[in-house]
Amino acid sequence: GRYAVIMAGGKGERFWPLSTSKHPKQLLALVGDQPLIAQAVDRLNGLIPPENVFVVTNADLVEATQQAAPMLPPENIVGEPIGRDTAAAVACGGALVAAKDPDGVFAVLTADQVMGDLDIFKATLSGGMDLAEKNEILVTIGIQPTFPSTGFGYIESGDDFQSVEGVRFKKAVRFVEKPDAETAQSYLDTGRFFWNSGMFIWSVPTLGKAFGAHCPEMKKLMDDLTDFAARGEIFQGLEKTYPNLGKISIDYALMEKADNIVMACGTFMWDDVGSWPALESHFPQDDAGNTLIGDCEQIDSRNNIVYSRDRVTAVIGAEDLIVVQADGVTLVCPKDRAQDIKKMVTTLREKG
Ligand code: GDD
Ligand code: MG
Repeated sequence: GRYAVIMAGGKGERFWPLSTSKHPKQLLALVGDQPLIAQAVDRLNGLIPPENVFVVTNADLVEATQQAAPMLPPENIVGEPIGRDTAAAVACGGALVAAKDPDGVFAVLTADQVMGDLDIFKATLSGGMDLAEKNEILVTIGIQPTFPSTGFGYIESGDDFQSVEGVRFKKAVRFVEKPDAETAQSYLDTGRFFWNSGMFIWSVPTLGKAFGAHCPEMKKLMDDLTDFAARGEIFQGLEKTYPNLGKISIDYALMEKADNIVMACGTFMWDDVGSWPALESHFPQDDAGNTLIGDCEQIDSRNNIVYSRDRVTAVIGAEDLIVVQADGVTLVCPKDRAQDIKKMVTTLREKG
């Protein structure tokens, strides 16, 4: 059968104070009117039924995730006692699928991305599942880049593999993690590079083999967790295995090493929405370039992002600022320092 594993390990730092560790991005209706995790499940409608969708998240967030995604059977939401990065989350998801269906094919998806053109997304996913059922390949979804982003990894594509449902699939030549601006531009110039969306499709046996060849620690983890999951004891399994694991992403553990990777050329709208400035492309701007979300007013202000959750927020003569008002917290930050918001979260945490 066909399954999905949604990774939801967000720590809620970059959209502070709207997002917090108890309410990270995937639980917020940041864009659209449903929590992002619910949108991630809903966009699988007609492809993968909710009972075949698993969410792997932080143990502290299981309850909040159940509330945000009530269409999922509660037992499909699995909490990790500690975060061990995406390779372990994939192994855990693989184990959940394997316990139900040792030959199952599953898509690894993320909880906190924004997508459009859902017909194309669905064709890409079902085409990829088709190929992953029939071939011993690791399928990854690449996104046609629209600008030289330094916030994403890139996939270099090679020869054509096959077209399915109008979606082109190509051999993947290599993966490169987030490049600097100059390198990113040179990638775009070649026309061969796609953004790494962090979405993958493979069968349980093909993933097991690939882990076995490139990352034996993850192969063992997936096998051990499959036994626990088959006994309905996945949480005990995670408690037992996770503390001894190193942190490694699926990109480093597998995708940079394997040579049987096929990339879908994703042409649907996709965005990771990594920080406040990324919201500008998902909301309208006023005549002066301000993005005003919620109850906000401005006079003589330009190019600000103002988000007001539960009271009125007013700016006068301000330029290029992020101003956020949420849950009794106010943030004022120049747009080009949005990456420092994480630092502030750390500072405040240390102060208790
Ligand atoms: N369950 C679980 N546990 N999920 C996790 C964990 C974990 O320990 N760590 C990360 N995730 C989830 C995140 O919630 C997110 O949805 C996804 O896995 C990717 O992790 P990020 O931490 O957001 O990675 P990134 O944005 O720096 O980079 C990756 O994703 C980009 C696309 O969004 C890389 O794969 C890049 O190459 C890629 O372009
Ligand atoms: Mg990310």
